Amino acid sequence: MEISVFGMGYVGVVSAACLTNDGHTVIGVDTNETKADLVNAGTSPVIEKDVAFFLSTAHAEAKLSATTNAAEAVAASSLSLVCVGTPSRKNGSLNTSIVEKVCKEIGAALKLKDAYHCIVIRSTMLPGTIHEVVIPALESSSDKKAGEGFGLAINPEFLREGSAVYDFYNPPKTVIGSLNARDADLVAALYRGLEAPLFKVSIEVAEMTKYTDNVWHALKVAYGNEIGNICKALGIDSHDVMDVFCQDTKLNISPTYLKPGFAFGGSCLPKDLRALNYKAQELDLSVPLIKSVSESNRTQIERGIEIITAHGKKNVSFFGISFKSGTDDLRESPQVELVERLIGKGYKIKIYDKNVEMAKLVGGNKEYILQVIPHISDLIGESFDDVLAHGEVIVIGNSEPEFHDIPKSMNATQILVDLVRIPERDLIGDRYDGVNW
Ligand SMILES: NC(=O)c1ccc[n+]([C@@H]2O[C@H](COP(=O)([O-])OP(=O)(O)OC[C@H]3O[C@@H](n4cnc5c(N)ncnc54)[C@H](O)[C@@H]3O)[C@@H](O)[C@H]2O)c1
Repeated sequence: MEISVFGMGYVGVVSAACLTNDGHTVIGVDTNETKADLVNAGTSPVIEKDVAFFLSTAHAEAKLSATTNAAEAVAASSLSLVCVGTPSRKNGSLNTSIVEKVCKEIGAALKLKDAYHCIVIRSTMLPGTIHEVVIPALESSSDKKAGEGFGLAINPEFLREGSAVYDFYNPPKTVIGSLNARDADLVAALYRGLEAPLFKVSIEVAEMTKYTDNVWHALKVAYGNEIGNICKALGIDSHDVMDVFCQDTKLNISPTYLKPGFAFGGSCLPKDLRALNYKAQELDLSVPLIKSVSESNRTQIERGIEIITAHGKKNVSFFGISFKSGTDDLRESPQVELVERLIGKGYKIKIYDKNVEMAKLVGGNKEYILQVIPHISDLIGESFDDVLAHGEVIVIGNSEPEFHDIPKSMNATQILVDLVRIPERDLIGDRYDGVNW
């Protein structure tokens, strides 16, 4: 394929080098003449293992050139990778002006070109940027429609400087967001042969994926560092601790606990978080990340209240108030806090929770339920149907399988607030409201 690569920085040069190594012909574009000259001489503008060799080989085989002229590059290629910078502004917001400028240049060149041309954005951009910045810039300057007159995709880059060529050939995944399947297939063809999961997704999912990944990486570093700081103050080898931590691929390094939903609770996480945070304070250590976790969780409870009260209905039925399915443990259940807050606001609540109902009669939690939260226990309804009939708003609080079919049994005016993401979400149209989906 003939490919133009806009931006001869880290991402662009590594892409150019690897694509020529795979047999493609690449024309690089950069406003910086020195960089264009270096590439034209077969020399790398960046230091990165294997890149210099790939570029000099491609130069010798006449598979690589560079220019400062966008129109020339678009005319000589069928696909353009946009790898220009998206720096922070002073206030932290994302500056997409370079991407916008490049898209206008590409669009102007597309106006003069009849053959189908696909633009692939590799720069990191916030969700919405493709639709708000990239498409308007391309369409207004080309007089063509995205997805019809030209192809458009976003293909976030996951390379790490220092091991960028290795990462190009061994990516954790390939993510392609596009307006149509044709463009997604075109981009996927660039990575044929790579052993990595391929995700063809919507433009917005691809845009958000990159931020979800990078903020997670930053969060992991900060978490490891705070744990390390506590360990050192306690005379414990932090790497011994993290070696054990990382071996746990069931609960720690795993999808467990990572799916969006409602607040955490129960008898362990809140208590243990408080204890470690207090210990850090005793040690005169600042652990802003660990400290902020409880606050984040409180915010999620507030969100639950807002999402329920926003419907302006006073009769609310709760299905499941223990912090997760399959338990009658109500200690520090955020669902219980939700109910208590709504009672305080004058809401008329009825609850169905068969585990808690059972525990009221027998079991170790009987005393807790009857003495510590009698006001909650009194709200537990007689039957599933009785509780369902009460609510103008129905809240599914935990993922007991018997709650999955609730949308099928609701009447035509009832609203469902789902804190757990039941499978049957699409049956009741806009009367369904998920907590964060
Ligand atoms: N560096 C990384 O490891 C990495 C990894 C993944 C994603 N990204 C993202 O990729 C994008 C590029 O990052 P980078 O580190 O390669 O940036 P960079 O600053 O190294 O390179 C950007 C290049 O674009 C050139 N440029 C500026 N205006 C131009 C124009 N109008 N036309 C053509 N070229 C122009 C600049 O001269 C520069 O050479 C960013 O959005 C970044 O967030 C970077």
